[in-house]
Amino acid sequence: MGYDYAHFNTAEGERQTPTARFNRAVFSGETERVIKLANEREIPVCGRETLTFLSALVSALDPREILEVGTAVGVSATVMLNACANARVTTIEKNEKFYAEALENFKNFGKTQHVTAILGDAAEVLPTITGEYDFIFLDGPKVQYVKYLPVLKRLLRRGGTLLADDVLLFGYVSGEREIPPKRKMLVQHVEEYLNAVLNDKELRTAVINIGNGLAMSVKV
Ligand SMILES: C[S@@+](CC[C@H](N)C(=O)[O-])C[C@H]1O[C@@H](n2cnc3c(N)ncnc32)[C@H](O)[C@@H]1O
Repeated sequence: MGYDYAHFNTAEGERQTPTARFNRAVFSGETERVIKLANEREIPVCGRETLTFLSALVSALDPREILEVGTAVGVSATVMLNACANARVTTIEKNEKFYAEALENFKNFGKTQHVTAILGDAAEVLPTITGEYDFIFLDGPKVQYVKYLPVLKRLLRRGGTLLADDVLLFGYVSGEREIPPKRKMLVQHVEEYLNAVLNDKELRTAVINIGNGLAMSVKV
């Protein structure tokens, strides 16, 4: 199966953090198989360090209702479901091929009953979602993070956690690497998101130097 989305510019992979060599959790056999297949084809799934943190964090929070923006082929959703046996994941993906493969993967994991996978553009799908979520994993198009924020805040219950991935963006946002001209706009949008969550009185936010950078916001 060919993918249009695969990012072949491997220079823009996961940042090498000082903690990466410790954060190397090994998951169940089926999860590892899907991670390997995704990595081989450069499907943009979370790196090992991010998955390690995500797994530990949701184990601690034990959310019942999880919302994910950006399913890809279902790696992060599966890692969360493995960590929280009672959780239900609603996950949104706009790429049809990724969505189809994610459905297959959820079936192979025996997790179909715990997953509502939605094919569509998150900008259109999110406003139609009702209910309250204990945990939201934001891992879709970075350029849209700040636009999604109001609806994500509405969907997050008080005390719930919104975790946004890639907020240090290969080191461009953290100032570790020079920003290539083609990335300037994206960096600006991610910075807008960080400013919004860091200055929002209803959110308590910390930026975490894990993987490509995470922003963890708790709704108070
Ligand atoms: C970083 S990947 C998600 C990786 C996944 N969370 C994991 O680690 O297994 C981002 C995903 O967002 C999807 N995406 C991009 N724009 C989108 C949009 N507007 N609505 C929904 N999904 C979108 C991409 O197709 C891609 O699969």
